[in-house]
Amino acid sequence: MMECSWKAVLLLVFASLGIQYSAIKSLRKAYEAPCPSMTVQNQCLQRDMKDTATRLLCEEFNKLHASASQHNRKHIIIFATTRTGSSFLGQIFNQNPDIFYLFEPLYHVQKTFSNSSSRMQVGSGSLVGAFRDLLQNLYNCDFYFFENYISPAPKNHVTSTIFRRGSSNALCSPPLCDKIQRREHICSRKCRPLNFTLVSESCKTYKHIAIKTVRIPKISDLRTLVEDPRLNLKIIHLVRDPRGILASRISTFIDLYQPWKIWNSIGRKPRNIDLTQITSTCADLSSSVETGLSRPPWLKGRYMLVRYEDIAMDPVKKAKEMYDFLGLEWREDVQMWIEQNTNGSIVPSVNFKYSTSRNSAETSENWRLHLCLDIVQKLQELCNVTFSLLGYKMVDSVLQLKNLSNSLVEPRIFFPFT
Ligand SMILES: *[C@@H]1O[C@H](CO)[C@@H](O)[C@H](O)[C@H]1NC(C)=O
Ligand SMILES: *[C@@H]1O[C@H](CO)[C@@H](O)[C@H](O)[C@H]1NC(C)=O
Ligand SMILES: *[C@@H]1O[C@H](CO)[C@@H](O)[C@H](O)[C@H]1NC(C)=O
Ligand SMILES: *[C@@H]1O[C@H](CO)[C@@H](O)[C@H](O)[C@H]1NC(C)=O
Ligand SMILES: *[C@@H]1O[C@H](CO)[C@@H](O)[C@H](O)[C@H]1NC(C)=O
Repeated sequence: MMECSWKAVLLLVFASLGIQYSAIKSLRKAYEAPCPSMTVQNQCLQRDMKDTATRLLCEEFNKLHASASQHNRKHIIIFATTRTGSSFLGQIFNQNPDIFYLFEPLYHVQKTFSNSSSRMQVGSGSLVGAFRDLLQNLYNCDFYFFENYISPAPKNHVTSTIFRRGSSNALCSPPLCDKIQRREHICSRKCRPLNFTLVSESCKTYKHIAIKTVRIPKISDLRTLVEDPRLNLKIIHLVRDPRGILASRISTFIDLYQPWKIWNSIGRKPRNIDLTQITSTCADLSSSVETGLSRPPWLKGRYMLVRYEDIAMDPVKKAKEMYDFLGLEWREDVQMWIEQNTNGSIVPSVNFKYSTSRNSAETSENWRLHLCLDIVQKLQELCNVTFSLLGYKMVDSVLQLKNLSNSLVEPRIFFPFT
């Protein structure tokens, strides 16, 4: 018992000095190991509180304990690439009033660096490092750090140039807006400019924080964040059939994917096409999926793989599975939102087509009607590893490609790593 208290004191002192988390982690382990049933709190209760030093330490401990219930606070990252349905998936968290949800805050980091003279490339170490630093600060509700990336620079911590502010209900609700504005374009028009001091305060009042990003290349780029025990980070990894991703990009990013559009209409590969636009996506996808499915200890309890096509098949069921994995309570209002927005109709503010139809081919495999066989086969060749990892079937004829009666999505269950 003496030894336990002694270690508790050490832990407290180190924690209050703000020693690195790795040090705290090993101390915690040392403390927990020899006396598993004994909490420091109990010891504090048993102690003679006349001893000032002990009292101070116990007070300090209570603070620590309070922040441990912060530990119950979930920090969620929706990890995806563009055109995988991540906006819709984000809504499953955005619609929950307990969750402070942010839509692509890393956009601002990428923009800053892509315009700087040094021009850091996506995937370069320093850019990923900057992404991580920003996430770390945001999960701690520190928005001043964010200001470094806002252009023009905020004045007195106030800005009106946050990317897609309206995609975050939290940023369009009191105290940041006079009343809650759920429609994206109305939020940016009617709510006053964002005051980051107030954003930080508001953020702290929410039970959980969720951030969506399509900008981090690999799951392994998140490792240092995942290993920070103060953060309690959990990853929802969203993936999609690369053929569907490409078809969606061709119709969305018109300029960037112009050569692909030409390829698609003439059915023959143009000479100067940049294949890395899709091969790098596939390489990142398979690398991340391999990391996740190999279940390394650092991802234990923190990783769940979700296929877009499975969400499309039954959004409520999948959403419930995600909430379960994250340890969040299911909410009727989230369910209602999903039901109202997954009826095959395009909801303008969501910009995403989904169907509750059992015939998932109707929407999630719609790309098959729009992509030519030549591109499909090239993709199957370039991305074969991704296909086999995720259970997407290959086709070798137009007949197979266009016959939506046969799904190209193999039924597979990817159990969350708990
Ligand atoms: C990028 O940098 C150029 C030159 O420094 C500047 O004129 C331009 O406004 C910047 N663009 C953005 C989006 O920041
Ligand atoms: C921003 O919000 C803080 C906290 O409510 C307040 O003290 C400050 O005056 C506000 N700043 C501006 C420029 O309105
Ligand atoms: C979906 O929309 C159709 C047409 O607007 C409507 O008839 C149907 O009742 C809706 N289904 C659900 C489950 O809301
Ligand atoms: C993918 O293709 C390469 C090269 O053709 C081949 O060596 C490899 O075995 C294939 N992998 C899978 C999983 O099909
Ligand atoms: C599509 O596939 C289904 C099931 O295999 C088959 O019954 C049907 O004849 C096919 N349709 C065409 C047009 O080939």
